[in-house]
Amino acid sequence: ADPDSLQDLCVADLGATSVVVNGFPCKPASNVTSDDFFFAGLSMEGNTSNIFASNVTAANVLSFPGLNTLGVSMNRVDVAPGGLNPPHSHPRATELIILLKGRLLVGFISTSNQFFSKVLNPGEMFVVPKGLIHFQYNVGDKKAFAITTFDSQLPGVVIASTTLFGSTPAIPDDVLAKAFQVDQKVVTAIKSKFER
Ligand code: GLV
Ligand code: MN
Repeated sequence: ADPDSLQDLCVADLGATSVVVNGFPCKPASNVTSDDFFFAGLSMEGNTSNIFASNVTAANVLSFPGLNTLGVSMNRVDVAPGGLNPPHSHPRATELIILLKGRLLVGFISTSNQFFSKVLNPGEMFVVPKGLIHFQYNVGDKKAFAITTFDSQLPGVVIASTTLFGSTPAIPDDVLAKAFQVDQKVVTAIKSKFER
């Protein structure tokens, strides 16, 4: 979890520029309102019209500044049939997932390279230990919808495919060709899918 808070609340002042802290500085208490502790962003279905046919809507400190210093956050994950929330990891949080609609294959890979997975039905949960690569794949014939929760106000996300093949600037082709033991043409072909 994130560091313990030293006061009741510390609504993030996302625009503050004068001080640098680990997290965000607090809004003056006199400016804090009930709206700072309310977030409606997860009530809307995400747009899954993209190459992965999935969408993650984040309720973290950046979208919901009232979470600042509280050590928790949540996402809404929508996955169309056949869609994939691609393999990724969260450097700062363990993830709990609860499936609300549809069917999802969820899994993670441990540091000893063991793959742990389950097909979730509505109401069922899975936990992904901090920092490990995981994914969700819609194996049903309907839209799937899950809520994920994190023990961090800003878990961070490293998406394996876009990190390696879509970084700015790009990782040299020969590094990726060597790493994946393929021809550079294969690297170029994969990179073309993730160009920014
Ligand atoms: C799902 O893995 C998520 O990060 O919300
Ligand atoms: Mn995740």
